[in-house]
Amino acid sequence: MKISMIGTGYVGLATGVGFAVKGNDVTCVDIDQRKVEQINSGVSPIYEPLLEDYLKKALKEKKLAATTDFSGAVEKTEVSFISVGTPSREDGSIDLKYVESASRQIGEVLRRKREYHVVVVKSTVVPGTTESVVLKSIEKASGKKAGKDFGLCMNPEFLKEGKAIEDFLSPDRIVIGSLDKRSGDLVEKLYANFKTPVLMTDIRTAEMIKYASNAFLATKISFANEVGNICKKMGIDVYEVMKGVGLDKRISPHFLNAGAGYGGSCFPKDVEALIHRAKEIGYEPKLLEEVQDLNRRQKIIIVEQLEKKAGNLKGKTVCVLGLAFKPDSDDIREASSISIISELLRRGAKVKAYDPKATESMRKLFPDIEYAKSAQDALSGSDACLVVTEWGEFKRLTDSDFSKMKRKIILEGRRILDRSRVKNFDGLCWRTLNSISSVFTKRNKRKMKA
Ligand SMILES: NC(=O)c1ccc[n+]([C@@H]2O[C@H](COP(=O)([O-])OP(=O)(O)OC[C@H]3O[C@@H](n4cnc5c(N)ncnc54)[C@H](O)[C@@H]3O)[C@@H](O)[C@H]2O)c1
Repeated sequence: MKISMIGTGYVGLATGVGFAVKGNDVTCVDIDQRKVEQINSGVSPIYEPLLEDYLKKALKEKKLAATTDFSGAVEKTEVSFISVGTPSREDGSIDLKYVESASRQIGEVLRRKREYHVVVVKSTVVPGTTESVVLKSIEKASGKKAGKDFGLCMNPEFLKEGKAIEDFLSPDRIVIGSLDKRSGDLVEKLYANFKTPVLMTDIRTAEMIKYASNAFLATKISFANEVGNICKKMGIDVYEVMKGVGLDKRISPHFLNAGAGYGGSCFPKDVEALIHRAKEIGYEPKLLEEVQDLNRRQKIIIVEQLEKKAGNLKGKTVCVLGLAFKPDSDDIREASSISIISELLRRGAKVKAYDPKATESMRKLFPDIEYAKSAQDALSGSDACLVVTEWGEFKRLTDSDFSKMKRKIILEGRRILDRSRVKNFDGLCWRTLNSISSVFTKRNKRKMKA
């Protein structure tokens, strides 16, 4: 099928490359000329494992090309995916300016296009948006009727950054919300060779499935953090606790990792947008508000705990290991590191940061802190260390790397350090120093293997 992806960011590019790998002809459209040039020369504008290899393959097989020519792309394709950003406004509500503008532009092309065309919203939008904003904008600009002259679907994306290609090619489920049968059938055909359950719904249900999924995952993390904070005070290892909890099939072991809070371009803004929308329609979403509050608090608790260990932070050098909101990504949108660095600076600390991929993005936000070229470099001469992102390379750090610190005060926010390589560090929501439960962990591991 001939597909145009409108908006070639994390989702648009990964999805576009994924559809190309599946044999479709994909045109990636973006307003950012530099991004378009990078994509056409086989360079991914974002760091995402496997993405660049698959991009190169798709370009070589002439299955994908990028352009700034919006009209040309929509004109020559059968389906257009809208995958532009949906950021938060200051009040937490969803900012739909990119979605509106892309819809209007599609409508202008459809005004003169004769063939049937299907528009699919892939951006995360609050329930009701596809019909009230996208449909209306396209109808107004095209003078045509949705469900008759053009098709309309909402197909939320569930990929995780850091695993975007894998997730796109093997998703847990595909949700297709459609206005009418014809457009729903066409989008379903696009996914025909995916071995994945497909759920066909109406448009508003598909929009809500995405919000409910993200809100639930955010709730799981804040729940684990809350239990972790209690465990810490009681000298219990929350990771052992959650292992026991997660073995319950009704709960599942995923997203129960307590730590320095969630970030990224989705959970914080999507939960906030759902809260805002709920209030607009007269419902007080108390649980979701608490989930967000707990998450904000978690990023301060890590600094408070560090100050308890290291004493007044004024003038002290704190090494921050990890800046990206998650490992295997260079994305720093709403990353926990941002709140943590702000809080450290507010308390007068000097910050020395290291991240394998996200340094350049962070430099734009905090130009005046020190950036190291390696974890060892960042640790050298520091008074204390916070581990903020669970990059695999931090797992390989040893006592000899930490021995270069002025004082060896380590607070782990992600449970990534290897206890057999590093001694005497503490966890944000768990006890790590000679803990009794680690003896049990070893015994349990042996038992579970047997
Ligand atoms: N990032 C994720 O992990 C993820 C996962 C699932 C869903 N989503 C949702 O997908 C959507 C996109 O997210 P993202 O992270 O890819 O955003 P992004 O900001 O990385 O990318 C958006 C792209 O759209 C381009 N754009 C804006 N207006 C345009 C227009 N009129 N025409 C062409 N291009 C235009 C921008 O230049 C940018 O490159 C959001 O709604 C987000 O919530 C994101």
